[in-house]
Amino acid sequence: MGVSIAIDGPAGAGKSTIARLVARKLNFDYIDTGAMYRTMGLYLDRNQISLSDEAAVKTACEQAEIGVTYENGEQQMWLDGENVNDQIRNEKVAGLASACGKLMPVREKLVDFQQKLALSRNIVMDGRDICTVVLPRADVKVYLTASVEERAKRRFLEYQKKGMACTFEEVKKEVEERDYNDMHRAISPLCRAEDAVLVDTSDMSIEEAAEAIMKLLPEK
Ligand code: DC
Repeated sequence: MGVSIAIDGPAGAGKSTIARLVARKLNFDYIDTGAMYRTMGLYLDRNQISLSDEAAVKTACEQAEIGVTYENGEQQMWLDGENVNDQIRNEKVAGLASACGKLMPVREKLVDFQQKLALSRNIVMDGRDICTVVLPRADVKVYLTASVEERAKRRFLEYQKKGMACTFEEVKKEVEERDYNDMHRAISPLCRAEDAVLVDTSDMSIEEAAEAIMKLLPEK
């Protein structure tokens, strides 16, 4: 087994930015599990599979070929042989990911995939159920969060930069809805594992948050 750092937390807490930085500093691979749920959401949408059709979802999970590669430390997502990295980065797919993350066959497929990826390499993995389900024996477990206001502000600025038209209130509502969905689903809801260290990034820079996480690594 390699060294593993597991990071959970709500959307907009800065998980992926901070996890990527920690991975770069330590020369570990950064594994973005949200991207996998997004890819599965894209597959279900493309194939017009209703999320309430249990049998169809199960078959889809058997058929969808989800793969990852790492190029210069950056994770690339592949779906049926096509690189879908850019196509999964929008709010529609984020919503599909949150919706399909509620389904057992989807979680079983992706958790299994993630656990296999974590074998025999040093990793930083982020998501919603990494400390609780995927890597309960990780060397470092972190619950990374920030206030709703702060998370909505960050996302709003991101959208403005991309030239997307929306109001702060709309973005805040979207953040709150996604929190609610992720925290209240029946299977593997987002929650802080008992032994996960709470890191609140509301008043922290990315660099400070990365340092705080790296300090948790046991000396080898
Ligand atoms: O981290 P993200 O925004 O890319 O994640 C998109 C959605 O995927 C998130 O709202 C819930 C789901 N997800 C999950 O259920 N379990 C994970 N480990 C990661 C993401």
